[in-house]
Amino acid sequence: MRTLIAANWKMHGDASWAQKLEQFDAILPQQERQHIDILICPPALYLAGMTRNKVAVAIGAQNCHHADSGAYTGEISAAMLKDIGASYVIVGHSERRAAGETDEDVKMKAAAACQHGLIPIICVGETLEQRESGEAEAVVALQLAKSVPEDSAEIVIAYEPIWAIGTGKVPTISDIEAMHSHIRELTLKETRLLYGGSVKPSNAKDILSVKNVNGALIGGASLEMNSFAEIVKSVQYP
Ligand code: PGA
Repeated sequence: MRTLIAANWKMHGDASWAQKLEQFDAILPQQERQHIDILICPPALYLAGMTRNKVAVAIGAQNCHHADSGAYTGEISAAMLKDIGASYVIVGHSERRAAGETDEDVKMKAAAACQHGLIPIICVGETLEQRESGEAEAVVALQLAKSVPEDSAEIVIAYEPIWAIGTGKVPTISDIEAMHSHIRELTLKETRLLYGGSVKPSNAKDILSVKNVNGALIGGASLEMNSFAEIVKSVQYP
């Protein structure tokens, strides 16, 4: 299974950030990362400019609408993302779930993504309160049951404990291992499972060596290409 290292730039950057792709390519040339899939998810506005780039990095969106087209002011469909050359889309990030997105919405978006040949990265994860009360595995199981489309094509699952996102706090290695093995039992063996939440160069090697961790979804540490490349370099091969 190929490791997937994905950058979620969230609402950061400007048009000049398209050049970060060449910067990344110079730091970590293609031949040094041929066994790894690299994905960058910039703000939607900058997607088209980046998919035209010749650097061998996949480009994805941070969200999509479930409908193909229609009277949905401000929205972007999976069909449109495919049209401009995106290959992945993050759906159900906790920052969007916190703003009202439900499991049902996430499922419809993931289904639309699959239908149009995009790979959805479906995010799940518990709050600190749920973790402390011992409900984390049950919460994640329910999110998976409700947000993963039944007969989807290729999907990716990102386990992102909400309390670890942007906080510098990370679960213990054994907690990550336990959650990923739990998620593995609930998903197909070929589905890639990413860990996300305060991944940085200093902890990436340990996290990426955990069984059933098939990659990472990185926010803050992906904004700077040197640190993103350091994380990519910490992927170990058998
Ligand atoms: P972080 O964000 O790496 O800044 O914690 C991860 C994410 O939200 O996907």
